[in-house]
Amino acid sequence: MSPARRYPETGVFYRALDREFPLIARGEGCWLVDEKGRRYLDACGGAYVANLGHGVSAVTDAIAAQIRKVAYVNGTAFTNEPVEELAAELRTLNPKGLDYAYFLSSGSEAVEAALKLARQYWVETGKPGKHKLIARTPGYHGNTLLALSASAREHYKKLYGPWLVPVTMIPAPYPYRCAPGSPALTAQALEDAIKKEGADTVAAFIAEPVGGSSTGGSVPPKDYYKNVRAICDKHDVLFVADEVLCGSGRTGRWAAIEHFGVTPDIMTLGKGLSGGYVPLSAVVTSRKILDPIAKGSGAFKHAQTFSHSPAICAAGLAAVRHMKKHGLVDRCAQMGNVLHRKLKTLRDLPAVGDVRGLGLLAGIEFVSDKSAKTPFPRKQRFAETFVAAALDAGLVVWPNVGHADGENGDLVMVAPPFVISEAEIDEIVSRFKTALDKTLETLHVHR
Ligand SMILES: Cc1ncc(COP(=O)(O)O)c(C=O)c1O
Repeated sequence: MSPARRYPETGVFYRALDREFPLIARGEGCWLVDEKGRRYLDACGGAYVANLGHGVSAVTDAIAAQIRKVAYVNGTAFTNEPVEELAAELRTLNPKGLDYAYFLSSGSEAVEAALKLARQYWVETGKPGKHKLIARTPGYHGNTLLALSASAREHYKKLYGPWLVPVTMIPAPYPYRCAPGSPALTAQALEDAIKKEGADTVAAFIAEPVGGSSTGGSVPPKDYYKNVRAICDKHDVLFVADEVLCGSGRTGRWAAIEHFGVTPDIMTLGKGLSGGYVPLSAVVTSRKILDPIAKGSGAFKHAQTFSHSPAICAAGLAAVRHMKKHGLVDRCAQMGNVLHRKLKTLRDLPAVGDVRGLGLLAGIEFVSDKSAKTPFPRKQRFAETFVAAALDAGLVVWPNVGHADGENGDLVMVAPPFVISEAEIDEIVSRFKTALDKTLETLHVHR
């Protein structure tokens, strides 16, 4: 008999120390199979990562072939074939002008690097006073200290407060919870904040073009980013689009910002960029940002051992080519329509306040009173109870808490691999209902 997969029985410092973990033995398409043969429908691609589905041999073979040739060279001394080809592929996909890619391993690293790049740009263009950052609440950009400073997740930040740097927060466009026409929905909140801080001190505004977990797949109004772009241009502030979660095809376009007809100055990619086959992220930007550095100090003042490595870029290259060859971004848009049509039916169920999203990215927000949009009290742990019930029903979804008022709020995200079928979407809906019944029963919620 294998040991219980929990602390302290094994040598693993688990992500939670108070429960047992099923051990996954393999993955196939949208399914994960544990060591006992139990199957789980991976309805969130892990954490919005497995965009191509599990077990794509075109990617695993390409990684193996590259590692056999050369696994690692350092980007300060050499370039390599996969990094050159992956950057060339991204030029064909990224918004026009975002032609240069700097590769890293995680979303947090990409966000740290993007914000540092914005700062260096202003120093090299003779405006060293521009150092402040503006971000949105709710919002999430990662868990390293600068990325966490730019995030608005109090439950992650509280403990580390003394180490975080100040970042000015404006309210996120969150149509379910914002009054129509509010400054959060028009981006007026951004201009107000820039004026208040002083435009000559503000370096960059960072935002997720379509909300990830933090606002549960909230889609801003059509004009929001046109307004953001105009405000940033007017006040000489760089716009950083964090597409770690919503990019790489997840919303049915390669970059989520494309839905809004706007080009950011700097964009981050991560998670699904390699389909999860290896940890890969990227910062992409334009000549406008890089020329002053090329003509000035000559290099971005940033260094990480695994940036530009052949092994990670080979995985990204194979993943991007596989997506292109099989038209997976278009498929994501099509199956996204099917997903949203079917998820809409959940709105009639008890405790479901809202269902929203774009492409294969959906958020389902739970409330105790639908007309008043009242969240469940945090101590009830609605989202966590739901996720455990879903896992029991063989369904993997992603929870978020705290979005309603900084402390309360429960939602779950559905973001399956782009290869999901209509029958599998039906299975998600059916297992969701089972999990909701169980949650309402466990928490004694009246129906
Ligand atoms: C929008 C966004 N940015 C950055 C990150 C950080 O990425 P990572 O967890 O790979 O460091 C995340 C992670 O969830 C994210 O959703």
